[in-house]
Parts: sequence; C-alpha cells; structure tokens
Amino acid sequence: MRRIYDRDPAGYHRGSALTERLLAARRRKVGEIVTGRLLDIGFGTGMSLTHYPPSVSVIGIDASLGMLRFARAEAANLGRAVQLVEMDAERLGFPDRSFDSVAFNLCLCTIGDPERAVREAVRVARPGAPMTFLEHVRSHLLPVALLQDALSPVLVALQQDHFNRRTEQAIRRAGVEVTSVERFAWGFFNLIVGRAPQAT
Ligand SMILES: C[S@@+](CC[C@H](N)C(=O)[O-])C[C@H]1O[C@@H](n2cnc3c(N)ncnc32)[C@H](O)[C@@H]1O
Repeated sequence: MRRIYDRDPAGYHRGSALTERLLAARRRKVGEIVTGRLLDIGFGTGMSLTHYPPSVSVIGIDASLGMLRFARAEAANLGRAVQLVEMDAERLGFPDRSFDSVAFNLCLCTIGDPERAVREAVRVARPGAPMTFLEHVRSHLLPVALLQDALSPVLVALQQDHFNRRTEQAIRRAGVEVTSVERFAWGFFNLIVGRAPQAT
C-alpha cells in the first residue's frame, strides 16, 4: 500500500480534481464539525486542509512518506501550519484521549484493518470528541453494491482499494457513537458523523 501511494503523490492530487467536485460540500461540512486539536488519519496530500478552519490545529498522519512530503509542500503554499507524522493508523503513537476531534477522509478503503484503525482513533480521542468519516463504501443500493463486489478484487489487486467495505458497521463496532449517516452518489460515498464514547 505504501509503495502505491509513494509512487505518484502529484498524480493522486491532480487526479482527484473530478471527485473533489463531488466531495467538496462534504469536506466543507467536515470542516464545520472538527475542532481544537484535530487528528486527520490518512492525511494524503492534504486535500482537506483548505476546508479546516484556522482555529483548528491539524495533526496529520499517513503511512506514505511520499504523500506527506507532497502535503508538507502544499501546506507551505497555503501558509498553513500542520504537524505531519509518518505513522500506521492501526498503531497510533499518541496517548489516550489526546485529541479534540478526529477525521478520516477516503482512507478506510485502503487501511488493512479499518475497524482496528477506528478503535485506535477512539482511544486517542477525548470522550465525546467529534469523529467524522468521509468514505467510499459498499452502497445500500443492491445493483450498485453488486457492481462494487465485482470490481473490488481488481481494484484491490491494482491499488489496494476496497470498493465494497461495510464501513458504517465497522465504525459502530469500533465503539463510535454514530449520530448521522449521509449517503450520496448512489450510496457510493457516505459522510458518517459521530463521537467518541463518553467515559464510563
Ligand atoms: C485515497 S488516499 C486519501 C488521502 C486524503 N485523506 C484525501 O482525502 O485525499 C488514502 C491515504 O491513506 C493512507 N493510508 C492507507 N493505509 C494507511 C495506514 N494503515 N496508516 C496510515 N495511512 C494509511 C495512504 O497512504 C493514503 O495517503
């Protein structure tokens, strides 16, 4: 997976222009929800950065050093201070309850064990912290879902992109208290909003 993303960060950034039209409104929504010390998981080239308000202090992690290098240059161009760290989402090197909010954007489709990554995010989020998930998922519409099932093995082989993950279920199993699920583009994309569980 790391090799795939290290290969051509600039190509990823350019190639995203089309999907960004579809996603821009939801990225903006994510920006309205996140707060304080924000952990952005699978930061990539920093496509979400312009949507985060200046009041938010962004810490981005990614497994690909190539993507982070590109993101660092992008952030500098935008005049935006961000802390970027090479790290595996499944093994976060942060203390418990150390973030005010957490965002996942288009990365649970590539992370090896998405539930484990969300569990880790829950661990490092303070109780009640907003958590957002802008992800492509297995559609709730059966014909679309069946097409995704057929395409997924090819896309996994080519670019580790799982096209048919039941992401909402994984997020709930990991302990996130889901407050809303917005399905769009025939259910191909979801914006799932929730919060880290309150302390018991
Ligand atoms: C499709 S890109 C999304 C990038 C960015 N969040 C966006 O919205 O454009 C997926 C990113 O997840 C990262 N990624 C995949 N598995 C990871 C893992 N286990 N830990 C950290 N980052 C990971 C990849 O390196 C890649 O940068």
